[in-house]
Amino acid sequence: MNLQNKTSMKSINGQLYIENIPVIDLAREFGSPCYIYSYEIITNNFLKYKKETRKQDLICYAVKANSNINILKLLAGLGSGFDVVSGNELKRCLTAGVDKNKIVFSGVGKSYEELEYAVNNEILSINIESVGEFKRISKIANRLNKTVNCALRVNPDISIGSHKYIETGSKTSKFGLDGQSIDEILKFSCEDNLIKISSVACHIGSQISDENLILESLECIKSVAAKLEDNGHHIEFLDIGGGLGIRYRDENEVNPKALLDKVKNVLKNTNYKIILEPGRSIIGASGILVTKVEYIKDAGEKRFAIIDVGMNDFIRPSLYEAWHEVREVENKDINSHTYDLAGPVCETGDVLAENRELKVLPGDYLAFMDVGAYGSVMSSNYNSRLKPIELLVNKDAVEVIKRKETFEDLVALEI
Ligand code: LLP
Repeated sequence: MNLQNKTSMKSINGQLYIENIPVIDLAREFGSPCYIYSYEIITNNFLKYKKETRKQDLICYAVKANSNINILKLLAGLGSGFDVVSGNELKRCLTAGVDKNKIVFSGVGKSYEELEYAVNNEILSINIESVGEFKRISKIANRLNKTVNCALRVNPDISIGSHKYIETGSKTSKFGLDGQSIDEILKFSCEDNLIKISSVACHIGSQISDENLILESLECIKSVAAKLEDNGHHIEFLDIGGGLGIRYRDENEVNPKALLDKVKNVLKNTNYKIILEPGRSIIGASGILVTKVEYIKDAGEKRFAIIDVGMNDFIRPSLYEAWHEVREVENKDINSHTYDLAGPVCETGDVLAENRELKVLPGDYLAFMDVGAYGSVMSSNYNSRLKPIELLVNKDAVEVIKRKETFEDLVALEI
């Protein structure tokens, strides 16, 4: 028996399983492309954080990584809070019935309407990212005569060395407040008794492979918190953001314990509660994307497997040159070849994997691994392609958590 356990997806006797179900059965029943998530992996990943946090701390799952309402409900049931970046992500959380007192709202471009919605819903914290945003919230708070809990999101000027598109903590990035903006907000906040600055937040980027970088940002938010307290604010939470990386290929995967042991140590003589905003490290490894090989195409220099998943369904390889493992759903007794996996979209960049040694024939299914985070949420209808069906597997049970889009859905807003 060949048992691979990298993502807790098992290959048994050449058959890929998700929990207790052979993926081939799901591919035949539900068709492809198809996103499938494991309940067990999501739960275990959340519990790895839960186990290392104290009763007073809060894990706010980053909704942007995968915002399916069924997944939000699953996590809410485990006690998760949520980090949202738009009014509609907030609405998703409220639709899923999550506790609004466990929701934080990040993002540099919150509109007036989005802020008003958040203020009216009295969420745990609006994370302020500019002086202009502070003024806008102040205006709304005064108009509605409501107290608003806020965090200052600090830009600590730390570079994390991952892909430049997913770094958020360096000075030149659009995220967070620099020292001068913090001072300006401090000045305005003295005259505003409706805005309660109760947290200091930071998120330095994604796919971080060294927890010490987050520790560095913690030192920075701690010193900002001290400054705010000197100026009469009561700081309850330090929000250290998300960003822990996962192993797609050979990256260093940081265990939440390694991070949280150090964080708790730094905060041991303080009263600060910790907020975390993990996305990828909770949902990333839980998801696979099943695709069918439509054609094998020999192009002289290259041999292509043309698949029915395109960059519109899964954009990480085209956008970030991200590497995702590809596995045969059923291992066949045929010769292997080296393939590039190309999708049906009319773009040269629509190649989702290069130089993969695979045993495949037209009609066979393959699975892209570790696509639970920033997979489905970043899909589009480019080339008028319909978004895939999505399934959640829990042991022997399968639930359709998103139906496949139809042509009618696609044109619904145009008629
Ligand atoms: N908190 C804030 C304020 C964020 O902006 C993000 C991610 C997170 C938390 C969660 O970070 P995570 O734990 O998932 O690393 N589309 C890119 C990733 C973009 C991340 C954006 N912000 C990708 O596919 O790699």
